[in-house]
Amino acid sequence: MSGGILVVGSLNCDYVARVPRMPGHGETLTGSALQIHPGGKGANQAVAAGRMVDASLEVRMLGCVGEDAAGAMLLDSLRGAGVEDGEVQRLSDVPTGSALIWVADSGENSIVVIPGANARLSPDDIRAREPLVWKTRVVLHQLETPLETVQTSLELGQLRRVITILDPAPAQPLPSELLRAVDLLTPNETEAALLLGEKAGPLSVADAIAIGKRLLERGPRAVIVKLGANGAVFVNRLQEFHVPGIAVKAIDTTAAGDTFNGALGAAIAEGMEMPEAVRFANAAAALSVTRHGAQPSVPSRTDVEALLES
Ligand code: RIB
Repeated sequence: MSGGILVVGSLNCDYVARVPRMPGHGETLTGSALQIHPGGKGANQAVAAGRMVDASLEVRMLGCVGEDAAGAMLLDSLRGAGVEDGEVQRLSDVPTGSALIWVADSGENSIVVIPGANARLSPDDIRAREPLVWKTRVVLHQLETPLETVQTSLELGQLRRVITILDPAPAQPLPSELLRAVDLLTPNETEAALLLGEKAGPLSVADAIAIGKRLLERGPRAVIVKLGANGAVFVNRLQEFHVPGIAVKAIDTTAAGDTFNGALGAAIAEGMEMPEAVRFANAAAALSVTRHGAQPSVPSRTDVEALLES
């Protein structure tokens, strides 16, 4: 197999409560089910890339879990999706990261993440694996591991002309120094507004293109603003376009953004042109919201291609 995709990021055990609606302050709600799934934004993206990418390309995960049952479940899930897990460290003195998730009947969710082992992925862990970065085409990042680790990985990738993708989730302000090491930044509406220091709200396509252009001024070479049910827009210095959403019945939006990024990384690593890559990622994300859970909701490449043809 030749070098393909490296995912630097988090692995979480997701504890998911299904609720009729989001609980209010101080309210006790009765839920209908509790499920435990493999999750974490990094591992979700790795699983999506593993299920989507051409078998000739390797997908590898770099991260940390504990020596507990949750860590074992996460490694099993990576392997099941064909992801190389040899660079996921198992730490004995810290638990695997976890996420407490409420999913309402509307499909919306609310998430609290407890980082656990994810907080231990260090810049030195990245530097020690420099040769891995060199032989990779695309490196995927998110923000559930320490920021200095993300920055180290982005800068290494940039130095070696590897394509660096950053999903700026969970939303947080980011220094321009870090954004300058990003080839492709993929915020959703909330994250895009926060990166510009503005109030978040739903965006029209024209607004999203305008926001994308302003984000380019902060350093990344290209920006995709993910618009949920309304698809996504792409902007760089030469090109801008909108890929419309695909009408589906959403039952759980958890990991839709991660599925988008994993599929996008796979498409770019395979050499698809950007409009085709964004359409592919958009279709993968649309299918993911029709299924429950984070990694269990990631579709296969066959399903994505069938949706695109239909
Ligand atoms: O993006 C969805 C993910 O966010 C969940 O799997 C949860 O673990 C949190 O990291």
